[in-house]
Amino acid sequence: MTRTTATTDVAIVGAGPAGLMLAHLLQRAGIDSVAIDIRSREEIENTHRAGILEQDSVRLLVESGVSDRVLCDGYRHAGIDLAFGGGGHRIDFEALVGASVQLYPQTDVFVDLADARARDGGDVRFGVGEVSVADITGDRPRMRFTDADGVRHEVAARILVGSDGSRSICRHEFPESLRRQFFREYPFAWFGILCEAPPSSEELIYSHSERGFALISQRTETLQRMYFQCDPAEDVAAWSDDRVWEELQARVGANGYVLEEGPITSKVVLPFRSFVQEPMRHGNLVLAGDAAHTVPPTGAKGLNLALADVRVLAEELELHLRGDEGALDRYAERALQRVWKAQHFSYWMTTMLHRLPEASDFDVRRQVGELTSLVTSTAGSTYLAEGYTGWPS
Ligand code: PHB
Repeated sequence: MTRTTATTDVAIVGAGPAGLMLAHLLQRAGIDSVAIDIRSREEIENTHRAGILEQDSVRLLVESGVSDRVLCDGYRHAGIDLAFGGGGHRIDFEALVGASVQLYPQTDVFVDLADARARDGGDVRFGVGEVSVADITGDRPRMRFTDADGVRHEVAARILVGSDGSRSICRHEFPESLRRQFFREYPFAWFGILCEAPPSSEELIYSHSERGFALISQRTETLQRMYFQCDPAEDVAAWSDDRVWEELQARVGANGYVLEEGPITSKVVLPFRSFVQEPMRHGNLVLAGDAAHTVPPTGAKGLNLALADVRVLAEELELHLRGDEGALDRYAERALQRVWKAQHFSYWMTTMLHRLPEASDFDVRRQVGELTSLVTSTAGSTYLAEGYTGWPS
């Protein structure tokens, strides 16, 4: 087995949206990087994730020159419907905070970023194996991997970035005595479907009901994305299309909505948890995106948070590489502030809308009381609109 060695400024473990956006921003600042991923490009392209981009995420993609496909192929949403207690209530983001979000799936964000890396001659290696990092507290930290032909590679860098997702190997490199991990598990999951049908509404419907939560989202004029709260151990094989439609119709029907049905092309159970690892920097290794934090999907903050991390990281890395010693810690501090705001927002949306398995009638009525307070208060609705469309950085 041959071994090749190379040097770069920043070695990036994980070439999902966070890693690729970072590599793109660094290149614009004249900083070299090598990004690797254990998954093939096709595998990442076929992993369906959330579909809502905050307005600053849209701006980042367009203004940094990744692509403006998000504007042509995405759909602008100026609000959402909160459905509960027998009816729907629109939260008008545009009127409340002068902002909107864009419906544009994470898989498309990834494709745009991967295409931009290829277009700009970026060094990205997909489908690698045996990934490890070494010397993270030394001046020349290293990233090692084996390529598809079995050739071993070592890349010596000035900084290592772990943007390797929720199953990160990089976060385990932080010594146990120096790291803290914050967890919250939830006693439910989401059953997600893709179906071939016209949209059932122009905007997303977040529906609270006695049977549990449902979310009606979209993808295109002919493809829709929907979710309903389920048991984490739910078996997709036990759910025929008819049974899925009956459940979804019952949950939104309680609030006066009727869904357009069609063949279901994908069914998955999505795990649900909140997680943060602090700090986000140790020596010359920094974490970004899901490697450092996970949010439950209610509110679609995961991808947005990852993009916000790397926007700040690119800025601070540039300063660090020019000799500013405080820059990496400043990244960790700035990122964590937003992370905990998003943790709260996602937790709050989740607990306000989902039914706990042991919920009493009191608990369900109290949630309706909370939702009513929210939609009948300009202050409450504005708080939701600010969080959903994204806080300024
Ligand atoms: C989605 O379209 O997949 C989606 C939208 C909003 C969420 C979560 C997921 O809060």
